[in-house]
Amino acid sequence: MTALIQATGLHTHYGASHILRGVDFTVEPGQTIGLMGRNGMGKTTLLKSIMGIVKPSGGKVHVKGQDMTGAPTFEIARLGVAYVPEGRGIFGNLSVRENLVMSARAGTRGQRDWTYDRVLETFPRLAERLNHGGQQLSGGEQQMLTIGRALMTNPDLLILDEATEGLAPLIAREIWRICGLIRESGISSVIVDKNWKHVTQITDVNVILVKGEVVFQGSSQQLHAQPELLEQYLGV
Ligand SMILES: Nc1ncnc2c1ncn2[C@@H]1O[C@H](COP(=O)(O)OP(=O)(O)OP(=O)(O)O)[C@@H](O)[C@H]1O
Ligand SMILES: [Mg+2]
Repeated sequence: MTALIQATGLHTHYGASHILRGVDFTVEPGQTIGLMGRNGMGKTTLLKSIMGIVKPSGGKVHVKGQDMTGAPTFEIARLGVAYVPEGRGIFGNLSVRENLVMSARAGTRGQRDWTYDRVLETFPRLAERLNHGGQQLSGGEQQMLTIGRALMTNPDLLILDEATEGLAPLIAREIWRICGLIRESGISSVIVDKNWKHVTQITDVNVILVKGEVVFQGSSQQLHAQPELLEQYLGV
């Protein structure tokens, strides 16, 4: 079975700042992975290095067995990887309907599991706001639209960077419910989130970064069995 993502020995710099320091990171088909670490530890940089948004200064990124190190983002997306960045990336001047429809496409195996109707069933709040402009949505609704748009591309892997950041608890819970549905639908995901309790409830593997290095990789069970690690590495 070929890994969806296999990053090996990744180093990334911003100018003279050495951020990623030899990171190995693998996503196997069907896996849900939690990527954790305190602010500024390199989580977003790792995702951007995988997605070709930032060019790594060393190491390799293989996507489905192909060397895609530093390849343009659209080529990585074309291999079935959908990336939902930190902050919100919707088209504010387009309606909810337009935002969704323009993203629709079949997946890499021709699958069209996530249709417009299914996305609206999953996000009833969006269904009630189809003609609203993107900029008229609340932060939580914008986040749902961003995830809905990613699902419309029928990805094999969905990468969510801080999908619940700044959301009211009820809306955040809604996003977690949707992460569960995504998992059940067979899509792999990488989830970056500050809430380790929610993360470890749905992940198969958790990776913790400290200063651009992987300091822990293991199941949720293994992590729960070592609460001192949570304190040491996440400050909880
Ligand atoms: N474009 C950039 N130019 C220079 N330094 C950057 C840039 N982006 C991030 N950094 C620095 O790189 C380090 C890692 O940042 P990164 O965004 O990867 O952290 P993170 O783990 O995602 O943090 P957070 O939890 O706050 O989102 C930080 O010290 C940050 O200040
Ligand atoms: Mg980040």
